Amino acid sequence: MTREHLLGIDDLTADEVTTILDTAAGLADVAARPIKKVPVLRGRTVCNLFYEDSTRTRISFELAAKRLSADVLNFSARGSSVSKGESLKDTALTLEAMGVDAIVIRHSMSGAPRQLTRWVGAKVVNAGDGAHQHPTQALLDLYTIRAHLGRIEGLRVAVCGDIEHSRVARSLVQALTLLGAEVTLVGPPTLLPLHAATWGVTVSHDLDAVLPKLDVLYLLRVQSERMHRQHFPSAREYARIWGVDRDRMARLPEGAIVLHPGPMNRGVEVSADVADAHARVITDQVRNGIAVRMAVLYLLLGGEEAA
Ligand code: NCD
Repeated sequence: MTREHLLGIDDLTADEVTTILDTAAGLADVAARPIKKVPVLRGRTVCNLFYEDSTRTRISFELAAKRLSADVLNFSARGSSVSKGESLKDTALTLEAMGVDAIVIRHSMSGAPRQLTRWVGAKVVNAGDGAHQHPTQALLDLYTIRAHLGRIEGLRVAVCGDIEHSRVARSLVQALTLLGAEVTLVGPPTLLPLHAATWGVTVSHDLDAVLPKLDVLYLLRVQSERMHRQHFPSAREYARIWGVDRDRMARLPEGAIVLHPGPMNRGVEVSADVADAHARVITDQVRNGIAVRMAVLYLLLGGEEAA
């Protein structure tokens, strides 16, 4: 990867995406070793700068950096000088002065990671900005799909649910179409962006009609924390029309896989029994996320010297 930063999938070519996935495949077996560490980023410092809550993404970046032997700092806005009114710029300049080599940032404002690149010399990795981009999530999803189905090109993938508020959907759709998958967005009209038809995808409001034609069903969480008005009558109503339960699952072809980026709202976009039945692929996403983030950090920070 020749990039200075990883801000969005739109910054990458198909070859670069494949390089990241292949590098991740090479690094994945580090997790199977008794000593889960390689020394490629020894002496480098990675800071996780999280302005939004996170479980798996923050822990995943932390483990990825530690498995590459980097030093890791975890900054969360809660409990920091942000509560005293410190701006993102001043926080960034403070980190820069302390000599961090890479900043992994999650922020509720779209564009915050790009803004950060104007202030610091460190490499910047976007770990989710508003409803804009979440590139490492899309990369780990592609990795997981490729690992289970052997390819991306030509696969029929539906991304279902709250597309409007989803940075995961924006990154994933770009990555899938870049590698030649056929993508359908399915969801209530109130949760589909008006311009979705310009994304190079098919748009549908009929989940039951879409399911029998799929290789991959990708479920999204209903992001209530980003909703400032009512997009559907109730969670129960959403579950009835858009939730995937055992009956709906019967419509999926044999061999199709179900993914979810987590955290799941059991009983809303997915029933508890379906979530449990598909836990293997969903936990694979989490496992693969570490290898993919190792690959991203390695390619940005360590590639040349380590090669
Ligand atoms: C996603 C996020 O934060 O954008 N979660 C994640 O990173 N695994 C999706 C979500 O919160 O629904």
